[in-house]
Amino acid sequence: MNEADSELVYSMLLAQGYTKVSSYEDADVILFNTCSVRKHAEDRVWGKVGELKRIKGGPPQISQPTASKSKRGGSIMPKTKVLGIIGCMAKAQREKIFERLPHVNFICGPSDIYEIADLIEQAQENPEEHFSAISKRKRPVKKGDCFAPSGFAMTKAGYREEKMRAWVNISYGCDNFCSYCIVPYVRGREISRKSEDIIDEIKMLVDDGVKEVTLLGQNVNSYRSQVAGNRLQVDFVRLLEKINKINGLLRIRFMTSHPKDANADLFKAMRDLDKVCEHLHLPVQSGSDRILRLMNRKYTADNYLKLIEQYRKIVNGGSLTTDIIVGFPTETEEDFYKTYMLMKEVKFDSAFIFKYSPRPYTAAYKMKDDIKKEAKEERNQSLLRLQDRIKKNKGKSLMNIIQQALGTKKAKRGPVSYYSENGKYYLKGRTRTNMQVIYEGNPELIGHLSDVKIKDIEGNTLIGERV
Ligand code: 5AD
Ligand code: SF4
Repeated sequence: MNEADSELVYSMLLAQGYTKVSSYEDADVILFNTCSVRKHAEDRVWGKVGELKRIKGGPPQISQPTASKSKRGGSIMPKTKVLGIIGCMAKAQREKIFERLPHVNFICGPSDIYEIADLIEQAQENPEEHFSAISKRKRPVKKGDCFAPSGFAMTKAGYREEKMRAWVNISYGCDNFCSYCIVPYVRGREISRKSEDIIDEIKMLVDDGVKEVTLLGQNVNSYRSQVAGNRLQVDFVRLLEKINKINGLLRIRFMTSHPKDANADLFKAMRDLDKVCEHLHLPVQSGSDRILRLMNRKYTADNYLKLIEQYRKIVNGGSLTTDIIVGFPTETEEDFYKTYMLMKEVKFDSAFIFKYSPRPYTAAYKMKDDIKKEAKEERNQSLLRLQDRIKKNKGKSLMNIIQQALGTKKAKRGPVSYYSENGKYYLKGRTRTNMQVIYEGNPELIGHLSDVKIKDIEGNTLIGERV
């Protein structure tokens, strides 16, 4: 979600005549797009932005005119180096940022990024002032409303890290209120974008060279496009069906799914719609029913196991990834062991494992963070080791299997084991199951599908040969 937001901000600024530079020193505008999900992410921002005082020198600071094009048609005039903190942390820490980091010119919440250009302009004109755009929006004015202005689709196609692949927001915010999670408080309540806007945007992206889209929402399965008179029009499966019909698009991915909302209809769509890739990210968070209840996840470990049994039955060869939190308040060794055993049983293709971090505003924040740092670390390491073993075995089972790869770019280097074969052209691509794969080919294969036989695995990267 943050990467998608960053691309949108780049798009807006590039459209205004800004260019990308590669160092803080050369920049007229420095923006930190921040995450608040764990405290560690915020700590890094406090540290990094703190360090920038060195080149910014506290408010106000007029930098030398630089060669980069100014917003006002390239006129050479002294400009203030503008420093902004945007995204979730701007909202979560809105009361503390200017106090702790007075050299920051403005803060801008995740729902307000359309105001960034204006904020920059204001900061350039009034470098001594602090500006903020933090919307108080808790829920949409009308169900089905979307805060994105209609120009959204136009801006979006402007900048992508990867020409071939694009993020597409289908909904914003979240209504689930998992007890540990700050997202509903910083990104607001859930709003679905109109399906026509999403389709139009994807068509435009395809015209611009995109072959694969990843549909983004905190909980994609609760997507509902409610346009006329609040009546249900398009749910997530219907949306997938519509997107599947877009000519020129090769692949559709989506994340994240919530176990309480994912169901057989979704799995059947993954099986039947040719462009929808067979990868499901389904965060389980814990294997203990007691902890799941405290987390307000609304399913049991058994519900989860039954769901993935269904998934694996319907979506042949589909991959499954997850998120897990260790050290949630009151988590005993026995609770943890249940998570360990669930992971051992399910054998995820990959898992993000997090140590619980108390977050302001959340329900769990009121509980004592009683699991010692060392215990969290031990549990974390134990799951990482287990997942590593699972991954190695999974890698072995892929050998000599044919996978479909979408070539996305030239690989910087060939596979280590093939190093002697220098001079060959290697592509970097992705399998339908979302694994990275390197294979020999030529530049024409970028943006095209190739069948590759898996021959090796290096770290998380598969090595394949075209067949
Ligand atoms: N502490 C640790 N991990 C968290 N996550 C969300 N909130 C917290 C928190 N307070 C994890 C969850 C979620 C992922 C995006 O981040 O596992 O699925
Ligand atoms: Fe946070 Fe739960 Fe919503 Fe995911 S579903 S964003 S974990 S509240």
